[in-house]
Amino acid sequence: MRCSLTALVALSLAVVSLAEPTLSPYNVHEKRSAIPIGWSHTRRHESAATLPLRIALKQSNIESIDEYLYDVSHPESANYGKHWTAGEISRKFSPSEESISTVRDWLVENGLASERIRVSSTKGWINVDVTVEEAERLMNTEYNVYTHVSGQEHVACEAYHLPEHISTHVDFVLPSINFDAKLKGRSSQLEPARAIGQPGVGITPKTAGTISQIVTELEQCDEYITPVCLRALYGLAYEPVATEKNSFGIVEYTPQAYLQSDLQMFAMNYSTDLLGLEPIMVSIDGGYAQTEYQGFEYNGESDLDLQYGMSLVTGKQNVTLYQTGDMVEGASFNNFLDAIDGSYCTFEGGDDYTQDAQYPDPYGGGYEGPEDCGTVTPAYVISTSYGYNEADLTPFYTARQCAEYAKLGLMGVTVLYSSGDDGVAGNGNYCLNPDGTQSSTGMIFNPSFPGTCPYVTSVGATMVKPNATVTQAQPEMACMEVIYSGGGFSNYFAMPSYQKTAVDYYLQNYPPNYPPNIWNSTGMSRAFPDISANGANYVVAVDGQFELVYGTSCSSPVSGAIFTMINDARLAAGKGPIGFINPTIYSAGFAGAFNDITEGSNPGCGTEGYNATAGWDPVTGLGTPNFPKLLEYWLALP
Ligand SMILES: *[C@@H]1O[C@H](CO)[C@@H](O)[C@H](O)[C@H]1NC(C)=O
Ligand SMILES: *[C@@H]1O[C@H](CO)[C@@H](O)[C@H](O)[C@H]1NC(C)=O
Ligand SMILES: *[C@@H]1O[C@H](CO)[C@@H](O)[C@H](O)[C@H]1NC(C)=O
Ligand SMILES: *[C@@H]1O[C@H](CO)[C@@H](O)[C@H](O)[C@H]1NC(C)=O
Ligand SMILES: *[C@@H]1O[C@H](CO)[C@@H](O)[C@H](O)[C@H]1NC(C)=O
Repeated sequence: MRCSLTALVALSLAVVSLAEPTLSPYNVHEKRSAIPIGWSHTRRHESAATLPLRIALKQSNIESIDEYLYDVSHPESANYGKHWTAGEISRKFSPSEESISTVRDWLVENGLASERIRVSSTKGWINVDVTVEEAERLMNTEYNVYTHVSGQEHVACEAYHLPEHISTHVDFVLPSINFDAKLKGRSSQLEPARAIGQPGVGITPKTAGTISQIVTELEQCDEYITPVCLRALYGLAYEPVATEKNSFGIVEYTPQAYLQSDLQMFAMNYSTDLLGLEPIMVSIDGGYAQTEYQGFEYNGESDLDLQYGMSLVTGKQNVTLYQTGDMVEGASFNNFLDAIDGSYCTFEGGDDYTQDAQYPDPYGGGYEGPEDCGTVTPAYVISTSYGYNEADLTPFYTARQCAEYAKLGLMGVTVLYSSGDDGVAGNGNYCLNPDGTQSSTGMIFNPSFPGTCPYVTSVGATMVKPNATVTQAQPEMACMEVIYSGGGFSNYFAMPSYQKTAVDYYLQNYPPNYPPNIWNSTGMSRAFPDISANGANYVVAVDGQFELVYGTSCSSPVSGAIFTMINDARLAAGKGPIGFINPTIYSAGFAGAFNDITEGSNPGCGTEGYNATAGWDPVTGLGTPNFPKLLEYWLALP
């Protein structure tokens, strides 16, 4: 480890000799376990060189965000449904004057004249130009110069420390452990986490090949899922009426894109109300429905999401397509979140350029416009069928993004993510090794993200049992054809209160017989998925042919469509949208609102995975939506 720790004693002595500082022990604030691929250490940075230090202050009240969220999302709360405006959110979480003065005092005590210290107009940042020597002393670190394979150099450290009384006010410091260099040439070794839309990265639906016949028989739903099967399975007989007020958004990451000709082919055969319709395209960071690259790996996901999402809400309800990222850089979830929340984009800062795309495009040949920043209105329901493994990302990065999902919930937005297609393994069937790395030979369960963020609704996959008909009782089981439903227990996030009763019941009655070193058996971590929906044998028009498609990628937009129809009924009744649904769907009043799935499992990492059981389980969550009951229960809420 190159960021050697300066002796703490020497540091404290140096501090004491300057002023009368507030002494508190130094703790590691951020640390990376490895240098990103493509970079190597070159030399210590020159001690007299200048560093423009930027200190991101912690948002105030952020530790209470779950309380605020549950206050408007729990059905028994007096404030149920009283969602916040963007302005209220911005005011509540702006960094406090106390944070500003505490950090400023610390800098002054350490010999930085106060006229060198500037507070940004948003009050989110403290900026000060320091020498490398000053920075190293302040943060008990060592700055190095690293060189990229392209020859470009970058200044960073691999860990830094802050005094305890300062770290509680600071999110992070730049430059530090982020390799956020603007690379001039395109990296040949893309980090997988960076380009979530690239084929083969993250969650991608699978195909079992093309089919030639047109299926319309409900009797065949165990072999071919079409919109009529889903309507029958979940009782979705509903014509929307409040379509002008309502909204449903589906997020896609370039280069993945839908083809309008596929949508129309699907419409002609399975959903004639979509004839002549297209999604409302909202371009984020230069995103567009590219047609240059075609094939299942480019069109499968988007074709699936839009054909089923649009069909189930009917042609009367507009569906928004958030096409995110250009062809050169692609984009990440943070780029999307930046676009729908200007406060996330600006004052919180901190996108990590080893993960998130930069706009205007620094590589050339891509989108040259400014980054979208608070330019896009979030829909009431947003479905995303892409995902990472938790271990792809740092805990800090995931925590910051997760808090943003809580803010969307506060605003009344329902955020759905697919739970993953590899059972207890991560994307690509990778499992964890004891040192935290991932490999195909790993043995430790590998949970997905954002599915493990307690402020999103994670959606797993089911299938119609072989030879079952959709009209019989309990026709579904956990999906065990082609894919396995992602599920398990987070290593990063604590268990939210709303699921404690349900998950405790599972752990007590069906304790998984695995050693505690291959899963988070503490009983204190966030368990997922929350719900599930069919994810097998979908008939999808892709590149002019019908293919059979599998994945939790199917389950998320289908669930999103169902919740959008519930919002329609609530909006028509003069009520607000359902917003963050988890505290509601786990509550006693919603018992029976999901069809409990009790068969099947989610193998992975050389194990049989977990079992679907009576009640919540880490395979299918609470179960699949029962639309008539959900509608009744949600219409009874204020
Ligand atoms: C749907 O979108 C189209 C095109 O933007 C618009 O003309 C129409 O009014 C929208 N319909 C509803 C019900 O919002
Ligand atoms: C299905 O779609 C194809 C391609 O658009 C079309 O040629 C065919 O007539 C459709 N079949 C039916 C039964 O509508
Ligand atoms: C489904 O039915 C077919 C035809 O009757 C039979 O061959 C097959 O074994 C059945 N599959 C299951 C899982 O019951
Ligand atoms: C298990 O989860 C908890 C809470 O999320 C976390 O604090 C703990 O570090 C996790 N344990 C392991 C072994 O990852
Ligand atoms: C799943 O169920 C099978 C059969 O009842 C049982 O043998 C196995 O131990 C269960 N697995 C877990 C992880 O609970």
